[in-house]
Amino acid sequence: MNIQDVKFIKSSPDLQSCPAESLPEYAFAGRSNVGKSSLLNFLTNTKKLAKISSTPGKTRLINHYLINNSWYLVDLPGYGFARTGKKIKADFQSFTSEYLLNRTSLACLFVLIDCRHEPLKIDLEFIHRCGEMHIPIALVFTKTDKLSEGRLLQNTDRYKRELLKTWEILPQVFSASTVTRTGRTEILNFIDKTNRVFGSG
Ligand code: GTP
Ligand code: MG
Repeated sequence: MNIQDVKFIKSSPDLQSCPAESLPEYAFAGRSNVGKSSLLNFLTNTKKLAKISSTPGKTRLINHYLINNSWYLVDLPGYGFARTGKKIKADFQSFTSEYLLNRTSLACLFVLIDCRHEPLKIDLEFIHRCGEMHIPIALVFTKTDKLSEGRLLQNTDRYKRELLKTWEILPQVFSASTVTRTGRTEILNFIDKTNRVFGSG
């Protein structure tokens, strides 16, 4: 799939403020700093569309980007980080949960996992909660440039084994690096296929 047109639509502080649910959308979730905004820029071939920072907690709102006038990419705030205190952290989580639970046009939630870590409780709990809420998910292992091929395989296998303790079938799994520019075609092909199911694109 070619990305011909990318438009930033809006940043929303809550579900009510999000654009109308007329098109399928693909959101990025994951711990702060895992690379959600970077992946959005990488997929759309833009350098500065979504704000990136080495300081966790950069993305604080629900950000909609319209692609080819037919579907949305959505950059979400990360979980597991509170620079501004507990109260704000709780607020982030509640509006992101509200979005995830009620957004019927959410075609797939990409849950990003830093490939360097062993399975972390916070990520596993998030993935399990998505399952309970019947949210369609796919996994993306990020920052694969930071590991050797062997180590990457070891870590992703370990993750899959961990998930198979509770999931009968694994979700779709991707690996990506914005440094070596890998994973883009696979993710865009998956979105293309899913869009067809939704009758868009
Ligand atoms: P929040 O908005 O704070 O939740 O973070 P985020 O998940 O959007 O992460 P962001 O895209 O801002 O990236 C965080 C840091 O990771 C930045 O310093 C990026 O340059 C770096 N990063 C992202 N993707 C990659 C990658 O594939 N490889 C490497 N080496 N670094 C990456
Ligand atoms: Mg971000």
